[in-house]
Amino acid sequence: MQIMTIKDVDLKGKRVLVREDLNVPRDKKTRELNDDTRIRAAVPTIKYLVEQGAKVIVMSHLGRPKGEVKEELRLDKVGERLGEYLGQKVTVATDCIGESAKACVAQMKDGDVVLLENVRFYPEEEKNDKEFSKALAAYGDIFVNDAFGTAHRAHCSTCGVGEFLPTVAGFLMDNEIKALSHALNQSESPFVAIIGGAKVSDKIGVIENLLDKVDTIIIGGGMANTFLAAQGYNMGTSLMEKDKLDIARSLMEQAKAKGKKMLLPVDLVIAPGIDAPDKAQMVGLDQVPDDMMALDIGEETRKLYIAEIQNAHSVLWNGPMGVFEVPEFAQGTFAVAHAIADSEANSVIGGGDSVAAIQKANLWDKIDHISTGGGASLEFLEGKTLPGIAIINKK
Ligand code: 3PG
Repeated sequence: MQIMTIKDVDLKGKRVLVREDLNVPRDKKTRELNDDTRIRAAVPTIKYLVEQGAKVIVMSHLGRPKGEVKEELRLDKVGERLGEYLGQKVTVATDCIGESAKACVAQMKDGDVVLLENVRFYPEEEKNDKEFSKALAAYGDIFVNDAFGTAHRAHCSTCGVGEFLPTVAGFLMDNEIKALSHALNQSESPFVAIIGGAKVSDKIGVIENLLDKVDTIIIGGGMANTFLAAQGYNMGTSLMEKDKLDIARSLMEQAKAKGKKMLLPVDLVIAPGIDAPDKAQMVGLDQVPDDMMALDIGEETRKLYIAEIQNAHSVLWNGPMGVFEVPEFAQGTFAVAHAIADSEANSVIGGGDSVAAIQKANLWDKIDHISTGGGASLEFLEGKTLPGIAIINKK
Protein backbone atom coordinates (compact mmCIF):
# COMPACT_ATOMS: atom_id res chain seq x y z
CA MET A 1 0.00 0.00 0.00
CA GLN A 2 1.35 3.40 -0.97
CA ILE A 3 1.32 6.39 1.34
CA MET A 4 -0.05 9.79 0.34
CA THR A 5 2.44 12.60 -0.11
CA ILE A 6 2.26 16.36 -0.58
CA LYS A 7 2.05 15.69 -4.33
CA ASP A 8 -1.38 14.10 -3.80
CA VAL A 9 -3.15 17.04 -2.17
CA ASP A 10 -4.26 20.51 -3.15
CA LEU A 11 -2.21 22.96 -1.12
CA LYS A 12 -3.13 26.37 -2.53
CA GLY A 13 -4.26 28.71 0.22
CA LYS A 14 -4.25 25.87 2.75
CA ARG A 15 -2.80 26.10 6.26
CA VAL A 16 -0.27 23.28 6.30
CA LEU A 17 1.10 22.03 9.62
CA VAL A 18 4.47 20.37 9.01
CA ARG A 19 6.54 18.28 11.42
CA GLU A 20 10.24 18.40 10.62
CA ASP A 21 13.11 16.95 12.62
CA LEU A 22 15.25 20.05 13.09
CA ASN A 23 17.02 18.50 16.06
CA VAL A 24 20.57 19.44 15.05
CA PRO A 25 23.85 19.22 16.98
CA ARG A 26 24.83 22.53 18.53
CA ASP A 27 27.50 24.09 20.74
CA LYS A 28 26.34 23.92 24.36
CA LYS A 29 27.76 27.33 25.28
CA THR A 30 27.24 29.52 22.21
CA ARG A 31 24.15 27.65 20.91
CA GLU A 32 25.73 27.85 17.42
CA LEU A 33 24.60 25.05 15.11
CA ASN A 34 27.41 22.56 14.49
CA ASP A 35 25.77 20.64 11.68
CA ASP A 36 22.69 21.74 9.76
CA THR A 37 22.21 18.64 7.60
CA ARG A 38 18.71 18.07 8.96
CA ILE A 39 17.71 21.69 8.28
CA ARG A 40 18.89 21.39 4.67
CA ALA A 41 17.07 18.09 4.34
CA ALA A 42 13.80 19.77 5.35
CA VAL A 43 14.06 22.55 2.76
CA PRO A 44 12.64 20.81 -0.37
CA THR A 45 9.33 20.03 1.35
CA ILE A 46 8.90 23.50 2.86
CA LYS A 47 9.94 25.20 -0.38
CA TYR A 48 7.43 23.15 -2.35
CA LEU A 49 4.63 24.04 0.10
CA VAL A 50 5.54 27.73 -0.20
CA GLU A 51 5.59 27.53 -3.99
CA GLN A 52 2.16 25.90 -3.96
CA GLY A 53 0.82 28.92 -2.07
CA ALA A 54 0.31 27.26 1.32
CA LYS A 55 0.72 28.89 4.72
CA VAL A 56 3.41 26.74 6.29
CA ILE A 57 3.47 26.19 10.05
CA VAL A 58 6.50 24.15 11.04
CA MET A 59 6.92 22.15 14.25
CA SER A 60 10.09 20.52 15.62
CA HIS A 61 11.80 19.51 18.81
CA LEU A 62 15.37 20.35 19.78
CA GLY A 63 17.18 18.23 22.35
CA ARG A 64 15.43 16.76 25.37
CA PRO A 65 14.09 19.63 27.53
CA LYS A 66 11.75 17.21 29.34
CA GLY A 67 8.63 19.35 29.25
CA GLU A 68 10.25 22.58 30.48
CA VAL A 69 11.28 25.78 28.77
CA LYS A 70 15.08 25.67 28.41
CA GLU A 71 16.50 28.88 26.94
CA GLU A 72 19.42 27.02 25.32
CA LEU A 73 16.97 24.81 23.42
CA ARG A 74 14.94 27.56 21.78
CA LEU A 75 14.49 27.24 18.04
CA ASP A 76 15.37 30.84 17.08
CA LYS A 77 18.76 30.00 15.55
CA VAL A 78 17.30 27.01 13.73
CA GLY A 79 14.58 29.25 12.27
CA GLU A 80 17.18 31.79 11.19
CA ARG A 81 19.20 29.11 9.36
CA LEU A 82 16.07 27.64 7.78
CA GLY A 83 15.20 31.12 6.50
CA GLU A 84 18.66 31.44 4.93
CA TYR A 85 18.20 28.19 3.03
CA LEU A 86 14.65 29.04 1.99
CA GLY A 87 15.60 32.55 0.95
CA GLN A 88 12.71 34.05 2.89
CA LYS A 89 11.89 35.10 6.42
CA VAL A 90 10.88 32.41 8.88
CA THR A 91 8.91 33.89 11.76
CA VAL A 92 9.80 32.06 14.96
CA ALA A 93 7.09 31.99 17.64
CA THR A 94 8.19 31.87 21.28
CA ASP A 95 5.61 29.25 22.23
CA CYS A 96 3.49 26.58 20.53
CA ILE A 97 -0.11 27.12 21.61
CA GLY A 98 0.15 30.46 23.43
CA GLU A 99 -0.32 34.10 22.42
CA SER A 100 2.90 34.31 20.40
CA ALA A 101 2.17 31.33 18.13
CA LYS A 102 -1.49 32.28 17.70
CA ALA A 103 -0.57 35.84 16.69
CA CYS A 104 2.15 34.68 14.26
CA VAL A 105 -0.23 32.23 12.57
CA ALA A 106 -3.11 34.72 12.43
CA GLN A 107 -0.95 37.19 10.49
CA MET A 108 0.24 34.68 7.88
CA LYS A 109 -0.26 35.23 4.17
CA ASP A 110 -0.06 32.49 1.53
CA GLY A 111 3.59 31.43 1.12
CA ASP A 112 4.62 32.54 4.63
CA VAL A 113 6.53 30.26 7.00
CA VAL A 114 6.15 30.23 10.79
CA LEU A 115 8.23 27.98 13.05
CA LEU A 116 6.61 27.13 16.36
CA GLU A 117 8.81 26.96 19.48
CA ASN A 118 10.35 23.64 20.61
CA VAL A 119 7.35 21.30 21.04
CA ARG A 120 9.13 19.46 23.85
CA PHE A 121 8.84 22.54 26.09
CA TYR A 122 5.36 21.12 26.75
CA PRO A 123 5.16 17.97 28.92
CA GLU A 124 2.05 16.96 26.95
CA GLU A 125 4.08 16.48 23.75
CA GLU A 126 5.84 13.25 24.67
CA LYS A 127 2.69 11.90 26.37
CA ASN A 128 0.85 12.20 23.05
CA ASP A 129 -1.79 14.17 24.95
CA LYS A 130 -5.04 14.51 23.03
CA GLU A 131 -5.78 18.11 24.02
CA PHE A 132 -2.31 19.32 23.07
CA SER A 133 -2.57 17.49 19.73
CA LYS A 134 -5.94 19.12 19.14
CA ALA A 135 -4.55 22.58 19.93
CA LEU A 136 -1.66 22.09 17.48
CA ALA A 137 -3.96 20.60 14.84
CA ALA A 138 -6.14 23.73 15.04
CA TYR A 139 -3.41 25.63 13.10
CA GLY A 140 -3.74 23.45 10.02
CA ASP A 141 -6.04 22.11 7.33
CA ILE A 142 -3.52 19.37 6.48
CA PHE A 143 -0.74 17.69 8.47
CA VAL A 144 2.52 16.89 6.67
CA ASN A 145 4.81 14.53 8.53
CA ASP A 146 8.31 15.01 7.17
CA ALA A 147 10.20 14.16 10.37
CA PHE A 148 11.62 10.73 9.56
CA GLY A 149 14.23 11.13 12.32
CA THR A 150 11.46 11.31 14.94
CA ALA A 151 9.02 8.87 13.31
CA HIS A 152 9.76 6.25 15.98
CA ARG A 153 8.26 8.54 18.66
CA ALA A 154 4.50 8.47 19.23
CA HIS A 155 4.26 12.12 20.25
CA CYS A 156 1.62 14.82 19.62
CA SER A 157 3.56 16.55 16.83
CA THR A 158 4.63 13.34 15.09
CA CYS A 159 1.48 11.33 15.47
CA GLY A 160 -1.29 12.79 17.65
CA VAL A 161 -2.15 15.69 15.30
CA GLY A 162 -2.73 13.11 12.58
CA GLU A 163 -5.86 12.00 14.47
CA PHE A 164 -7.41 15.39 13.69
CA LEU A 165 -6.11 16.22 10.21
CA PRO A 166 -5.63 14.54 6.83
CA THR A 167 -2.01 13.36 7.01
CA VAL A 168 0.47 13.08 4.16
CA ALA A 169 4.24 12.59 3.91
CA GLY A 170 6.73 15.27 2.88
CA PHE A 171 9.53 14.61 0.38
CA LEU A 172 12.12 13.76 3.04
CA MET A 173 9.84 11.22 4.73
CA ASP A 174 8.83 9.70 1.39
CA ASN A 175 12.45 9.40 0.21
CA GLU A 176 13.58 7.81 3.47
CA ILE A 177 10.77 5.24 3.41
CA LYS A 178 11.44 4.41 -0.25
CA ALA A 179 15.22 4.11 0.14
CA LEU A 180 15.16 2.06 3.35
CA SER A 181 12.29 -0.18 2.18
CA HIS A 182 14.13 -0.79 -1.09
CA ALA A 183 17.32 -1.64 0.82
CA LEU A 184 15.45 -4.06 3.06
CA ASN A 185 13.23 -5.75 0.52
CA GLN A 186 14.57 -5.28 -2.99
CA SER A 187 18.34 -5.19 -2.63
CA GLU A 188 20.16 -6.85 -5.45
CA SER A 189 22.36 -9.77 -4.43
CA PRO A 190 25.13 -9.98 -3.24
CA PHE A 191 23.70 -7.85 -0.42
CA VAL A 192 26.20 -7.01 2.32
CA ALA A 193 25.22 -5.39 5.62
CA ILE A 194 27.92 -3.88 7.80
CA ILE A 195 26.83 -3.52 11.41
CA GLY A 196 29.00 -1.82 14.00
CA GLY A 197 28.70 0.37 17.05
CA ALA A 198 29.25 -0.21 20.72
CA LYS A 199 26.65 -2.70 21.83
CA VAL A 200 25.14 -5.93 20.54
CA SER A 201 22.04 -5.20 22.64
CA ASP A 202 21.26 -2.14 20.45
CA LYS A 203 21.51 -4.16 17.24
CA ILE A 204 19.97 -7.57 18.00
CA GLY A 205 16.69 -6.70 16.24
CA VAL A 206 18.47 -5.30 13.20
CA ILE A 207 20.77 -8.29 12.83
CA GLU A 208 17.88 -10.74 13.21
CA ASN A 209 15.79 -8.91 10.62
CA LEU A 210 18.71 -8.55 8.20
CA LEU A 211 19.71 -12.21 8.43
CA ASP A 212 16.62 -13.05 6.36
CA LYS A 213 17.54 -10.54 3.68
CA VAL A 214 21.31 -10.27 3.25
CA ASP A 215 23.94 -12.60 1.84
CA THR A 216 26.68 -11.42 4.19
CA ILE A 217 26.67 -9.63 7.50
CA ILE A 218 29.87 -7.94 8.62
CA ILE A 219 30.33 -7.21 12.31
CA GLY A 220 32.65 -4.52 13.69
CA GLY A 221 32.99 -1.97 16.47
CA GLY A 222 32.66 -2.62 20.19
CA MET A 223 29.90 -5.14 19.59
CA ALA A 224 32.34 -7.42 17.75
CA ASN A 225 34.11 -7.93 21.11
CA THR A 226 31.04 -9.68 22.50
CA PHE A 227 30.94 -12.01 19.48
CA LEU A 228 34.67 -12.76 19.83
CA ALA A 229 34.32 -13.39 23.57
CA ALA A 230 31.43 -15.74 22.78
CA GLN A 231 33.87 -17.69 20.59
CA GLY A 232 36.17 -18.01 23.59
CA TYR A 233 38.72 -15.26 22.93
CA ASN A 234 40.16 -13.27 25.83
CA MET A 235 39.19 -9.65 25.13
CA GLY A 236 41.17 -8.04 27.99
CA THR A 237 39.50 -4.83 29.18
CA SER A 238 37.55 -4.35 25.91
CA LEU A 239 34.02 -3.00 25.97
CA MET A 240 31.87 -6.08 26.15
CA GLU A 241 28.41 -7.23 27.17
CA LYS A 242 29.00 -10.33 29.27
CA ASP A 243 25.26 -10.93 29.60
CA LYS A 244 24.85 -11.00 25.81
CA LEU A 245 27.27 -13.83 25.02
CA ASP A 246 24.38 -16.26 24.50
CA ILE A 247 22.66 -13.84 22.15
CA ALA A 248 25.88 -13.42 20.16
CA ARG A 249 26.19 -17.22 19.93
CA SER A 250 22.56 -17.51 18.88
CA LEU A 251 23.01 -14.88 16.14
CA MET A 252 26.05 -16.75 14.81
CA GLU A 253 24.06 -19.99 14.82
CA GLN A 254 21.10 -18.34 13.09
CA ALA A 255 23.43 -17.04 10.36
CA LYS A 256 24.85 -20.53 9.86
CA ALA A 257 21.43 -22.18 9.81
CA LYS A 258 20.20 -19.69 7.22
CA GLY A 259 23.29 -20.18 5.07
CA LYS A 260 24.41 -16.56 5.51
CA LYS A 261 28.02 -15.47 5.82
CA MET A 262 28.83 -13.66 9.07
CA LEU A 263 32.24 -12.00 9.10
CA LEU A 264 33.96 -11.12 12.38
CA PRO A 265 37.32 -9.40 12.91
CA VAL A 266 40.42 -11.55 12.42
CA ASP A 267 42.75 -9.00 13.99
CA LEU A 268 42.41 -5.88 16.14
CA VAL A 269 43.94 -2.54 17.03
CA ILE A 270 44.41 -2.51 20.81
CA ALA A 271 45.61 0.03 23.38
CA PRO A 272 45.48 0.44 27.19
CA GLY A 273 42.59 2.92 26.69
CA ILE A 274 41.02 5.48 24.35
CA ASP A 275 43.28 8.11 25.88
CA ALA A 276 46.46 6.18 25.04
CA PRO A 277 46.53 6.12 21.22
CA ASP A 278 50.35 6.39 21.28
CA LYS A 279 50.42 2.84 22.69
CA ALA A 280 48.19 1.41 19.94
CA GLN A 281 49.27 -1.87 18.35
CA MET A 282 47.86 -4.39 15.90
CA VAL A 283 47.42 -7.93 17.21
CA GLY A 284 45.84 -11.27 16.37
CA LEU A 285 42.67 -12.39 18.13
CA ASP A 286 44.53 -14.57 20.61
CA GLN A 287 47.00 -11.83 21.56
CA VAL A 288 44.88 -9.38 23.57
CA PRO A 289 46.60 -8.91 26.97
CA ASP A 290 44.47 -8.68 30.13
CA ASP A 291 45.15 -4.94 30.49
CA MET A 292 44.49 -3.84 26.90
CA MET A 293 41.28 -3.16 24.96
CA ALA A 294 40.21 -3.50 21.32
CA LEU A 295 39.47 -0.10 19.78
CA ASP A 296 39.40 -0.78 16.03
CA ILE A 297 39.48 -3.62 13.53
CA GLY A 298 42.97 -4.61 12.33
CA GLU A 299 44.52 -4.47 8.87
CA GLU A 300 43.73 -8.05 7.81
CA THR A 301 40.11 -7.52 8.85
CA ARG A 302 39.93 -4.33 6.80
CA LYS A 303 41.18 -6.21 3.72
CA LEU A 304 38.61 -8.93 4.29
CA TYR A 305 35.74 -6.46 4.73
CA ILE A 306 36.81 -4.30 1.78
CA ALA A 307 36.92 -7.36 -0.51
CA GLU A 308 33.40 -8.33 0.54
CA ILE A 309 32.12 -4.77 -0.06
CA GLN A 310 33.84 -4.61 -3.48
CA ASN A 311 31.98 -7.76 -4.49
CA ALA A 312 28.56 -6.47 -3.36
CA HIS A 313 25.73 -5.14 -5.49
CA SER A 314 23.96 -3.67 -2.44
CA VAL A 315 25.45 -2.37 0.78
CA LEU A 316 23.78 -1.26 4.00
CA TRP A 317 25.95 0.27 6.74
CA ASN A 318 25.00 1.06 10.31
CA GLY A 319 27.57 1.73 13.03
CA PRO A 320 31.33 2.44 13.08
CA MET A 321 34.10 -0.18 13.19
CA GLY A 322 36.00 1.45 16.04
CA VAL A 323 36.43 4.62 18.08
CA PHE A 324 36.70 6.74 14.94
CA GLU A 325 36.74 10.03 16.85
CA VAL A 326 40.42 9.23 17.67
CA PRO A 327 42.55 9.13 14.47
CA GLU A 328 44.60 6.11 15.64
CA PHE A 329 41.38 4.09 16.00
CA ALA A 330 39.59 5.44 12.92
CA GLN A 331 41.28 3.44 10.16
CA GLY A 332 38.77 0.60 10.16
CA THR A 333 35.75 2.90 9.94
CA PHE A 334 37.31 5.00 7.19
CA ALA A 335 38.41 1.91 5.25
CA VAL A 336 34.80 0.71 5.23
CA ALA A 337 33.52 4.20 4.35
CA HIS A 338 35.91 4.47 1.38
CA ALA A 339 35.16 0.94 0.20
CA ILE A 340 31.43 1.73 0.16
CA ALA A 341 31.98 5.07 -1.57
CA ASP A 342 34.22 3.49 -4.22
CA SER A 343 31.97 0.52 -4.90
CA GLU A 344 29.39 0.32 -7.68
CA ALA A 345 26.87 -1.10 -5.20
CA ASN A 346 23.69 0.68 -4.23
CA SER A 347 24.71 2.13 -0.87
CA VAL A 348 22.50 3.05 2.06
CA ILE A 349 23.80 4.42 5.34
CA GLY A 350 21.74 4.84 8.49
CA GLY A 351 22.54 5.77 12.07
CA GLY A 352 24.13 8.92 13.44
CA ASP A 353 27.70 7.65 13.89
CA SER A 354 28.25 6.11 10.47
CA VAL A 355 26.73 9.23 8.90
CA ALA A 356 29.18 11.37 10.93
CA ALA A 357 32.03 9.15 9.69
CA ILE A 358 30.97 9.60 6.06
CA GLN A 359 30.86 13.33 6.60
CA LYS A 360 34.28 13.36 8.27
CA ALA A 361 35.71 11.34 5.37
CA ASN A 362 34.18 13.80 2.87
CA LEU A 363 32.33 11.04 1.02
CA TRP A 364 28.77 12.35 1.32
CA ASP A 365 28.20 12.70 -2.43
CA LYS A 366 29.32 9.15 -3.17
CA ILE A 367 26.57 7.43 -1.21
CA ASP A 368 23.15 6.67 -2.72
CA HIS A 369 21.12 7.28 0.42
CA ILE A 370 22.17 8.72 3.77
CA SER A 371 19.39 8.54 6.33
CA THR A 372 18.59 11.53 8.56
CA GLY A 373 17.38 9.06 11.18
CA GLY A 374 19.42 7.60 14.03
CA GLY A 375 17.04 5.65 16.28
CA ALA A 376 14.33 5.89 13.62
CA SER A 377 16.42 4.24 10.89
CA LEU A 378 17.48 1.52 13.31
CA GLU A 379 13.86 0.71 14.21
CA PHE A 380 12.89 0.81 10.54
CA LEU A 381 15.67 -1.66 9.71
CA GLU A 382 14.46 -3.88 12.54
CA GLY A 383 11.22 -4.14 10.58
CA LYS A 384 9.17 -2.25 13.17
CA THR A 385 6.16 -0.11 12.30
CA LEU A 386 7.04 3.47 13.20
CA PRO A 387 4.09 5.45 14.64
CA GLY A 388 4.94 8.59 12.66
CA ILE A 389 4.71 6.57 9.44
CA ALA A 390 1.67 4.53 10.43
CA ILE A 391 -0.34 7.75 10.84
CA ILE A 392 0.16 8.79 7.19
CA ASN A 393 -2.95 8.30 4.99
CA LYS A 394 -2.77 5.57 2.38
CA LYS A 395 -3.67 5.97 -1.29
C1 3PG B 1 17.17 11.96 16.87
O1 3PG B 1 18.07 12.82 16.95
O2 3PG B 1 17.44 10.74 16.77
C2 3PG B 1 15.75 12.42 16.77
O3 3PG B 1 15.66 13.79 16.62
C3 3PG B 1 14.93 11.92 17.92
O4 3PG B 1 15.37 12.49 19.11
P1 3PG B 1 15.06 11.76 20.50
O5 3PG B 1 15.89 10.52 20.57
O6 3PG B 1 15.39 12.76 21.57
O7 3PG B 1 13.58 11.40 20.50
